[in-house]
Amino acid sequence: MKNHNLLKLSPLVAAFAVAIAANAASRDTYPPLVPLPPPPVPKDNPQTKEKIALGKQLFWDGRLSGDGSMPCVSCHVPGLGWGDGGQISRGYPGSKHWRNSQTVLNAAYYNKLFWEGSVTSLESQAPSAAEGGVAGNGDPSVMEMRLRFIPEYVAIFKKVFGGEWPRMNDAYRAIASYERTVVSDTSKVPFDRYLKGDKTALNESQKRGMALFNGKAACIQCHNGPLASDQKFYALGLPDFPGFKDDPLSQVTHRWEHYQKGVSEDKYRRADMDYGLYYMTKNQKDIGKFRTPSLREVKYTAPYMHNGVFTTLQEVVDFYDRGGDQGTNKTSLIKPLKLTALEKKDLIAFLEALSMSEPLIHDDPRLPGDYQPLPAPHK
Ligand code: HEC
Ligand code: HEC
Repeated sequence: MKNHNLLKLSPLVAAFAVAIAANAASRDTYPPLVPLPPPPVPKDNPQTKEKIALGKQLFWDGRLSGDGSMPCVSCHVPGLGWGDGGQISRGYPGSKHWRNSQTVLNAAYYNKLFWEGSVTSLESQAPSAAEGGVAGNGDPSVMEMRLRFIPEYVAIFKKVFGGEWPRMNDAYRAIASYERTVVSDTSKVPFDRYLKGDKTALNESQKRGMALFNGKAACIQCHNGPLASDQKFYALGLPDFPGFKDDPLSQVTHRWEHYQKGVSEDKYRRADMDYGLYYMTKNQKDIGKFRTPSLREVKYTAPYMHNGVFTTLQEVVDFYDRGGDQGTNKTSLIKPLKLTALEKKDLIAFLEALSMSEPLIHDDPRLPGDYQPLPAPHK
């Protein structure tokens, strides 16, 4: 495309055209990184102000967990990039988790959630979180009954969902609606501002990093589209999380997960690695594969990877630069990159430009007060 043609287009369209042209120059054509649109909203769970506010309260409320101590926010802390800051997530009291806590930021954009993509909507993700043994460990019928003994919740649920009493399914729908507001504010993301026409939003180093991302470093092969994720699954050849094989509590969780996910007895007994996508497909070719995560907001979401083995973006880039390590089913798309020190610095600068200039923080909501006796039985 000639420059004089570009000039006639709006800055946004021109920016897309440039992004597409830049990609065409890379080895293959992948969906370009483009500004993040608003998140999709399912038709059967429309966003309303009251529902979002209720979902926020429930996200913070420990009564939606077994012993009252593990609300969603305990592992998805706004000030810790909406994760828990640990390499491996904290687990329900008395247990250890086995994976890194994913960020809830921009989770609204995925059509496959969790590291192995095991659920397909926020509405169906919330129950696995609140009820899952090493996460919330709540019994749905108990949690539902708790909500029914809190008059303020009874009134809000009635207003939002219309039923006489709070129902767990509606609680999960409200949480999902709230999560659809935990998304990047693109007016604060340098990359999005740049593509929308603010040519000063990226500095020279970040622009060089963007060219590397699309070219020599070839990150675009998997981290593409508006989310910087193709939502496909790969084994990168990652180092093991230290202690995974010999820490008794990690092994307890690991074997329990194997049992839950129905692996064969020999794998159950070996408990030697996180099989990732294999749990879903039971196909040997999927052992060790995990969903490509978004690179948006990575400035705030350390540590990185399903097992949290990297604590800085420098470590991540060094890993890719050496072509990854060894591992079952390792993808051939990861190869040594031979980046110079300056190129690594530029690439990291670009990754940071995919994050807001300040972290997205939500203040704690006010939670409804104590339990109260139910009114006389409804006639
Ligand atoms: C004990 C800590 C813990 C609690 C409590 C917890 N989570 Fe999580 N969350 C995690 C971990 C760890 C993962 C990744 C798990 C995996 O892939 O197996 C995760 C994954 C997620 C994801 C998927 C994100 C993605 O990129 O696919 C969402 C959404 C989420 N949690 C929301 C919630 C909600 C809503 C609640 C409360 C109902 C909650 N979580 C409670 C630790 C927790
Ligand atoms: C073959 C596909 C593929 C390519 C190419 C690729 N990635 Fe990844 N990336 C992934 C997958 C899959 C994961 C998660 C792996 C896991 O946890 O097991 C990941 C994880 C990451 C993470 C951690 C994010 C988080 O939230 O934990 C960062 C940062 C990252 N990649 C950056 C890059 C950069 C920079 C490049 C280019 C040098 C690159 N990736 C190239 C597939 C890819």
